[in-house]
Amino acid sequence: MIVAIDGPAGSGKSTIAREVAKRLHMRYLDTGAMYRAITLLALEQDLVPERVSEAGALANGVSLRLEGRPDDLSRVFVDGREVTEEIRGRLVSQNVSVVSADPGVRAVLTQKQREEIARGDVVLEGRDMGTVVAPDADLKIFLTASIEERARRRQLQLREKGTDQPLDEIVADITARDAYDSGRELAPLRKAEDAIEIDTTGLTIEEVIHAVVSRARPTRRWRLSGMVKSPLDTILYRFAYSFIPPLWRRVFRMTIVGREHFPTSGAVVLASNHRSNLDPFFLGVASPRQIHFMAKAELWKVKALGRLIDSLGAFPINRGEADRVAVKRALEVLAAEAVLGIFPEGRRQRDGGLGEIHPGVTLFSLRDQVVTIPVVMEGTERIVRGRRFRFPRVVVKFGPPLAIPGTDVPRSERAVVASQRLTETYRRLLDIPPSGDDVPGGSEGI
Ligand code: DC
Repeated sequence: MIVAIDGPAGSGKSTIAREVAKRLHMRYLDTGAMYRAITLLALEQDLVPERVSEAGALANGVSLRLEGRPDDLSRVFVDGREVTEEIRGRLVSQNVSVVSADPGVRAVLTQKQREEIARGDVVLEGRDMGTVVAPDADLKIFLTASIEERARRRQLQLREKGTDQPLDEIVADITARDAYDSGRELAPLRKAEDAIEIDTTGLTIEEVIHAVVSRARPTRRWRLSGMVKSPLDTILYRFAYSFIPPLWRRVFRMTIVGREHFPTSGAVVLASNHRSNLDPFFLGVASPRQIHFMAKAELWKVKALGRLIDSLGAFPINRGEADRVAVKRALEVLAAEAVLGIFPEGRRQRDGGLGEIHPGVTLFSLRDQVVTIPVVMEGTERIVRGRRFRFPRVVVKFGPPLAIPGTDVPRSERAVVASQRLTETYRRLLDIPPSGDDVPGGSEGI
């Protein structure tokens, strides 16, 4: 389940989000701390305000790590250096709005946040969680409070840390920050249409927590198969995959690894290795959401088969040519925030190897707001051998979301790096040594 909590400074987001996460046994992500950490670095490198446009590249080049502390603010590390206390200082607070309004910074941090979301079950706290970063969150909360109340809370917080700041100064700081955060062009602080607004003025912390937790419902799933409802679901797919998976898993003694990497909402490219015509069924059985496969057009030559796969939500691609219609269909799937299934090797590797991945296939993964999940299957190549049909053990392994280089890198280079990373991930998931020697056409059975 994904819970998005947004609201202005001092509305109680951190306290509430942290406690809600604890009670629901979920992870907690303080996205404000991420913007603060980049602001600290930008200040140290003298980028604010004149050279703030360079902060995106700076953000792209660092590793950010947030470590949850159930009883206090998250510990924050930048390239291994702890900055937990520093990022809460007044200088960072006064400059964070300018840095966080920079499109480059937002693109990088939004991507990092989506990678966290893709790992599932998380409470997100920020300004644009419900509107931009996780528009499909299962629960969206917008917290508000009067300016006086918010300033008073911030004053108490600061006092606990040994800093005394006059109330009118805090009111001025918060008002300025709110105006900036709400007025900026990109991802402004705004209540999502479907968010529940809670005015916390005069409420106790416990009352607010209760209001949030009592609304948290697990993601809606189809009962038998445990699948999540998805946009563009087709009736046949839903019907078929309500009862196929338990049976199929048993017959093929399927092992499914890394299912938690699969985002329960949002646009996903599921990039799978390919060994058998039956692969889509195994992926369907292993995945929590309906997959819209881009499949070779030859399958539609047999009319009945074409009709069947049409109603399962797949669509044809003519290989070996620039098939504009197929690309358009694929983009429609992603625009509808559904799951696009592709086989980046282009054709089946019937002997169980790994085919070459052309950078062009990462076209869909490079798009904004798309998460790419690499997945490998082992064993499907042994099912149909000549005219014989066997029931080998089948393993499906989902990898973590593919890291795509930021938009500050030229597009062609992004595609090359993304395809290399996809190959590396496949090798890792398939236990193929990461040497320079490619497994030639997959001559080794795996
Ligand atoms: O929640 P906070 O006060 O720690 O956030 C610090 C600043 O970061 C806030 O003034 C605006 C920015 N921010 C943002 O632009 N988008 C987010 N999702 C979170 C924070």
